[in-house]
Amino acid sequence: MNEFKPLVFSGVQPTGNLHLGNYLGAIRKFVALQDTNDCIYCVVDLHSITAQLVHEDLRGQIRSIAAAFIASGVDPQKHIVFNQSAVPQHAELAWIFNCVARIGWMNRMTQFKDKAGKDRENASLGLLAYPSLMAADILVYRATHVPVGDDQKQHLELARDIAQKFNIDFQEKIRATGQGVDMVVGEEPIHGYFPLVEPLIDGPAPRVMSLRDGTKKMSKSDASDLSRINLMDDAETIARKIRKAKTDPDALPSETEGLKGRPEADNLVGIYAALAGSSKADVLREFGGVQFSVFKPALIELAVNVLSPITGEMRRLMEDTTHIDGILRQGGERARDRATKTMKEVRDIIGFLQ
Ligand code: TRP
Repeated sequence: MNEFKPLVFSGVQPTGNLHLGNYLGAIRKFVALQDTNDCIYCVVDLHSITAQLVHEDLRGQIRSIAAAFIASGVDPQKHIVFNQSAVPQHAELAWIFNCVARIGWMNRMTQFKDKAGKDRENASLGLLAYPSLMAADILVYRATHVPVGDDQKQHLELARDIAQKFNIDFQEKIRATGQGVDMVVGEEPIHGYFPLVEPLIDGPAPRVMSLRDGTKKMSKSDASDLSRINLMDDAETIARKIRKAKTDPDALPSETEGLKGRPEADNLVGIYAALAGSSKADVLREFGGVQFSVFKPALIELAVNVLSPITGEMRRLMEDTTHIDGILRQGGERARDRATKTMKEVRDIIGFLQ
């Protein structure tokens, strides 16, 4: 329980092309949350140099994520859309969090283990400290709710651990500055400065798998472009990729039970359901007993109907970058105002001279 003003924050990394999985798993949720919440959506460019330092066209990647947000319906006037590096307070708070978090916490992160692979000694220090920057992204706005995919849950738990340790360790100082909030942690009433963030994972968050292999996640790093539908693909490309998508020879089952052991069928039915805003069971009620030769054209029609307006708008936005750059600049200014206030208070709590 806490009494912080509800605020939604989320971030997307500007690495590689956005695809259908990113849209259905994240951006569509961002759009839905705007009606009922104050939201901040960030292109996390500082995160993108943790795994790979040099990028061919980082500016273009940053713009294309912002364009995807806007083309999908995020309102940059009512809410805030900006790129992380425009607000230096993220990095400043991340440093402080590096001193709050313990090395052991970081070493336990499964994403670090996956990304660093066998040669851990050679991973960047930034890759290890990444979750501390992610916690700073959220907490520099004292945001309370974070829509993320399942794979980010562990990072959010770490953000809670950081907030909790900061709140407890600086308890007296927080009280002295008068900027804290009464909150209960477990049974314990404390006066904390940072909220304990809640993940927003619910809703139909489909795991969108590769069109070439239903057991692998759709990924921007897959060598085959046929494995994914990119948000910049035109209608013809979308149709071709779905037509070529791997399937099995059987007809669709009438119930979800029948999708077991058929990863490609499961994936295409899941994509249909997510695009239609229905469930796999609903889709199978309609298409049970039908062959892929019939189902695929229906999926193509639906995918093109849903995605074409977005891909078209994205292309338009990417043609003239002044508009998108203006949105990011303005969003950056608004974000900086808020982050500046937080950092003043944090410096005061820690005891730096102002
Ligand atoms: N780590 C997230 C990802 O890879 C991106 C991210 C960075 C983020 N900072 C964030 C997500 C803050 C939510 C909130 O998907």
